[in-house]
Amino acid sequence: MHTVGDADTDRGDVRHLYVHVPFCRHHCGYCDFVTAVGRQSEHSGYVDALLAELRREEHLLTSDALDTVFLGGGTPTYLESKALARLLRSLPPGREVTVEANPETVTPELCEVLLAHGVTRVSLGAQTFEPELLATLERQATPEIVRGAFATLRQAGMANLSLDLIYGIPGQRTEQLEHDVHVALELAPEHVSVYELEAKPGTRFTMAYGAELTRQSDQLENYMELATQGLQAGGYRWYETANFCLTQEGDARDLRSDHNLAYWRGKDYLGLGVGAVSTVGEQRWKNAASVSGYVSAVLGGDAPARSNEHVDARLRMWERAMLCLRLDDFLEEDVFSDVLDPQGVERMATRGLVERDGRSIRLTPRGRLLGNAVTIEVLGESGELGGSHSATRR
Ligand SMILES: C[S@@+](CC[C@H](N)C(=O)[O-])C[C@H]1O[C@@H](n2cnc3c(N)ncnc32)[C@H](O)[C@@H]1O
Ligand code: SF4
Repeated sequence: MHTVGDADTDRGDVRHLYVHVPFCRHHCGYCDFVTAVGRQSEHSGYVDALLAELRREEHLLTSDALDTVFLGGGTPTYLESKALARLLRSLPPGREVTVEANPETVTPELCEVLLAHGVTRVSLGAQTFEPELLATLERQATPEIVRGAFATLRQAGMANLSLDLIYGIPGQRTEQLEHDVHVALELAPEHVSVYELEAKPGTRFTMAYGAELTRQSDQLENYMELATQGLQAGGYRWYETANFCLTQEGDARDLRSDHNLAYWRGKDYLGLGVGAVSTVGEQRWKNAASVSGYVSAVLGGDAPARSNEHVDARLRMWERAMLCLRLDDFLEEDVFSDVLDPQGVERMATRGLVERDGRSIRLTPRGRLLGNAVTIEVLGESGELGGSHSATRR
């Protein structure tokens, strides 16, 4: 049993690096990440800027070898091949190096580049295996392309694969999600993320599917229950609200995402690139989203435009507790006593939504299905609920 306690309270100890690559071949209607379509002539310059920002900030890194490096996007695998290889070659090495990939970008040549440059894990955005739902999401891949990408990565020797699925898609039926879980089990990735579709108010996507999104929102809890039950029955550990890792007889590997565990355990991390967030000690900053502004500032020798936030020790403790409650790890009540509400914990325990092991607590499976509603009770007065996308979706 892992308990989150004192050993995780290090500050100003940066062993995790996130690198944001915003470029995508095409924009999918539902996506609200920082992205830029096409712009191939700018890929190499953007990599120059990322490496310049790394040089500015590398004094913050605890050592030359990191625990985790995560290239997210956008679509890192859409980067022009030489630029991607140069980026991977120039980043500090990590024990776990993950790259996010879109199925239609996966080729044997791409796999060679990834494997030759220390990538240990690929996170593949499948979303669903239903052709009409892929079309609704405006994805470019068909189910065959998703399966083909998975097979190509495996044949190349990529031993640690994660698959992203989404539920709550306009038009989705329960049996379609059952089928998605079934296909995921057939493919047997080492890790699966299952996200609830978040549709931002006011976007073209939300306007087009408003009524259907409302109908889907009534189903979200059922969908999540279905996914958690299906994946657990298939041998996956439900280790975080939206994340599952394969556990098999005789396989001692811990296949949780170390990078995401670092976010959920409230560790420090450095983020490079447009829109990237960093948290070091009591400082948090977020780079602005403009690609051209970022490239010209950083290559001109300046820091990129950023917003800064002071996150004092209590707020960080509160955030840490909030994120740790998403895990199946126990949380030491004495360590988190400043931010836990003992009466709220008691109320939730009485209702079977929190369980105890001595002086440690965690949410029960039912509690995790209910999510924020239970967390709010356990934490009492809030700091700032929500966290960043990178902390929850990635
Ligand atoms: C930002 S994407 C980057 C990966 C890659 N470009 C792709 O699309 O496969 C990472 C994951 O975030 C999830 N995601 C993106 N937009 C989302 C949304 N609006 N709601 C829920 N999940 C979303 C998807 O599952 C996606 O695979
Ligand atoms: S979902 Fe992925 S491919 Fe689609 S726009 Fe977002 S980052 Fe790009």
